[in-house]
Amino acid sequence: MKLLACACLLAAMALMDATQADELRVSEQSVFSFYKSLQLLTPDPIVVSPDIAVKCTTPSAAELTADEQRAGPHSNAFVKLYVNAVAKRAIEAGAVPFPTGAVIVKEKLNSDASAAAVGGMVKRAPGFDPANGDWEYFYAARSGGFASGRLDTCSGCHSRARDRDHVFFSGAHRNR
Ligand code: HEC
Repeated sequence: MKLLACACLLAAMALMDATQADELRVSEQSVFSFYKSLQLLTPDPIVVSPDIAVKCTTPSAAELTADEQRAGPHSNAFVKLYVNAVAKRAIEAGAVPFPTGAVIVKEKLNSDASAAAVGGMVKRAPGFDPANGDWEYFYAARSGGFASGRLDTCSGCHSRARDRDHVFFSGAHRNR
């Protein structure tokens, strides 16, 4: 009986996770704060190719500022990944596709570890954008600019990870 109650509770919690994330609307106001309550997948910042760190952005939403250009692409080469519980379970299980409600956020860090930009993807219900794994993308730079929705610049490149449900760091190919 206890086990059953426990299972029900877990199921209810999973449902809650998914529902909350499904309703998640990232806005210009919340984009730099909402993900702080998610789980940090990378306790230490991870280094990504500076080239990708620069390209992993929408030119329209986040034209690099004069400052960033002066500092060079290395200024954004450290990132932290945040995930909600739905995404974390899928990553740990190496299971793709991700369930509806999965949220993955990439925070690009300045050299003083403050956030320079935030980009993320939210798994929407089937039909949202089937060709691109039904992911909604969003991006904001501290220097200004916010975009969210079916962002072609993001999904176009992320389609290279199509076999991992458009997520490079999906756990499905740990040894890439
Ligand atoms: C030129 C290719 C490219 C473009 C364009 C691109 N990304 Fe990425 N993205 C990557 C690669 C490669 C990774 C994995 C390495 C890393 O973290 O930089 C990644 C990682 C991510 C991650 C962490 C989850 C994962 O897939 O590993 C998020 C979230 C993300 N990108 C969001 C975005 C958003 C939002 C946009 C559009 C504003 C975007 N990306 C545009 C190549 C790209």
